Formats: sequence, C-alpha cells, structure tokens
Amino acid sequence: MKVILSADHAGMTIRNEVKSLLDEMGIEYEDTGCSCETSVDYPDYALPAAERVANGEFDRGILICGTGIGMSISANKVKGIRCALVHDVYSAKLTRMHNNSNMIAMGERVIGPGLAREIAKTWLETEFEGGRHERRIEKITLYENKHE
Ligand code: RB5
Repeated sequence: MKVILSADHAGMTIRNEVKSLLDEMGIEYEDTGCSCETSVDYPDYALPAAERVANGEFDRGILICGTGIGMSISANKVKGIRCALVHDVYSAKLTRMHNNSNMIAMGERVIGPGLAREIAKTWLETEFEGGRHERRIEKITLYENKHE
C-alpha cells in the first residue's frame, strides 16, 4: 500500500505522529507538506494529494488540518475521492468497511496525537466489506460520472 500524507500549518504534530506510525507499520508514504513556517491554505495541500489518490498514484491519503473539515471538504471535490472526516476509532473502522474511504481527514485542534495514531492504524488495517455497500458506492460514482 502507498499512502500520501499532507497537512497545513495546524496539523504538524499529528502529521509527525502518523509518519512514525507509517514507519512502524512499514508502509510506503510520501509527505507532501507543508513546511509550515508560515500559515498556508489547506486546499493547496488537500487538492493535489486527492488528485494523486484519484489517479491511482497512491492507494490512500491522510490529511490533517486544524479541524479536518477544510481538508475533507476540499478532497471530496475531486472525482473518485471518498474522504471521511474521522475523530474516533469506530468511525475509522466503519468508513473502511462500509464507505471504502480512500482518504481520511483529522483535526489537530479536535483530537490529540495518541487518538490520531489509533484512528490511522485502524483505518489502514480495515478492509472494505463489499456486498450491499458496493451498490451504494456505485450510486455515488454514477452521480459523479453524470455530472462531470
Ligand atoms: C487554519 O487556521 C484552519 O482554518 C485550518 O487548519 C482548518 O481547520 C480548516 O478547516
């Protein structure tokens, strides 16, 4: 699995925590910023990362900002992206099982690094269940294709 990781200036601590988790899990990843010396704009980080998941260069993406909201809104504008805003382990598990999410966003002003690590670990380890959930995702894809 290849993971792309991106954060704005408000997500640096969790980004570093997720990097250490990915290292520990032996998962290949690319960290696309920010360098975060100054304040940056989250769409400049979420959109390119989402495009690289949508085009197949990466299997999954993890985004971090202050709330996770700006990152998730931005990523979900990219066709083929199902980015879940996740702040608990149960949702992290269920968004893989039911939504086959290919990205998650987390907010560093909402949760701490310990919980963020557990969320990311659970999300990375959980498989999509398929079945009836496949049909629901196909409906989203159909909508995306109709409204290109
Ligand atoms: C930056 O101050 C903050 O607005 C951003 O990190 C994020 O929370 C936006 O949704």
